Amino acid sequence: MAASAPTADLLLRLATTRRRSEALVAGLEPEDLGLQGMADASPPKWHLGHTSWFFETFLLVPHLSGYAPADSRWGYLFNSYYDAIGARHPRPERGLLSRPTIGEVMAWRHRVDGGLEALLEQLARCTEAESAPVLALLELGLQHEQQHQELLLMDLLDGFSRNPLEPIAFPGAEGPEDSYRRSRVAGSLQWVGGPDGLVEIGHAAGGFHFDNEAPRHRVWLEPYAIANRLVRNEEYAAFIADGGYRRPELWLSEGWEAVERYHWQAPRYWRGSGPASAWEWEFSLAGRWPLHPEAPVRHLSWFEADAYARWAGARLPGEAEWEAASQQGAAIEQVGGVLWQWTGSPYRPYPGFVPVAGAVGEYNGKFMSSQMVLRGSSFLTPAGHGRPTYRNFFAPASRWMAAGLRLARDVA
Ligand SMILES: [Fe+2]
Repeated sequence: MAASAPTADLLLRLATTRRRSEALVAGLEPEDLGLQGMADASPPKWHLGHTSWFFETFLLVPHLSGYAPADSRWGYLFNSYYDAIGARHPRPERGLLSRPTIGEVMAWRHRVDGGLEALLEQLARCTEAESAPVLALLELGLQHEQQHQELLLMDLLDGFSRNPLEPIAFPGAEGPEDSYRRSRVAGSLQWVGGPDGLVEIGHAAGGFHFDNEAPRHRVWLEPYAIANRLVRNEEYAAFIADGGYRRPELWLSEGWEAVERYHWQAPRYWRGSGPASAWEWEFSLAGRWPLHPEAPVRHLSWFEADAYARWAGARLPGEAEWEAASQQGAAIEQVGGVLWQWTGSPYRPYPGFVPVAGAVGEYNGKFMSSQMVLRGSSFLTPAGHGRPTYRNFFAPASRWMAAGLRLARDVA
């Protein structure tokens, strides 16, 4: 039986997504594939294995007749954080996994690809009621793999940044760095009044979205203004030159603690050869490049974004303000595809939030403490993956993500 149109579309998107993960590492050396720069990051090989583990564990083993895992020992290595699935190898030690080899991981990927194809053929013979929940899980697996493509790149940048030889992931104008390189924040900042009063935010029923984006609900917003654009490098450099990293009054207590503990003096990948204030270059996936004054500032922690906003006489937008304002079309720029944007909102469930059933319910819900929400998407985010309702989240001291900031302020 021929696959139905939705199934054929999903098969094509799955194949494209799976291939892209492999294309991202095609130019890397074998040594790069096992590189883990820090406990929060994972080696490229682990990302390639884990995304296959996700499909194998949540789709193929439970739903494809006769499917057996490639190696029953690998679940322990490639389970990220799913307690319902079982024990796992500690994340800080993923870089120690010289086995399975990259060849074995790639062969596993292709075995899983074959399984996904067979599963879609099997689903085409089922009723819609039978296939719908499995197709929804397949879509989740695809979106999960897209998330890991961005994680792979930001983790790789972290790893490469620790090597004095400054390896280059994507030489020249090739690769994702090129789109960032072309992004400019020109002109003076304009304050735009966003929708206020009773507004609705969140994803309505229908269409793919992560569970944490729903339900759509009402929020009351006092009058506010939001910047039409992101903050750029030269503006952030002015904050540094004004003693931004030496003035505790600009920082929240935990943020100031981080400044002192980690000796922060500038965004994560800024480099300079002279005194601390002479920042000239930025390390990137395309190697070391001169800092462009009009490029949007990136690789900031939430604490740095918050301190900059205080210095600028402003604040970070709440996530409801960001989402409501982003619906105004052309009024605010750089909403998606440039940099994730820190908001002032803690990552908590929306009213009426229900995690999805089963082990995949651990996907988002269990992280709803001690993290802040980022909105938009970045130049590392796969095309078509972002949405205005998308809620990304990281701990406030994290700064290896492609994150920048947009200002907001109260309106009297
Ligand atoms: Fe994952």
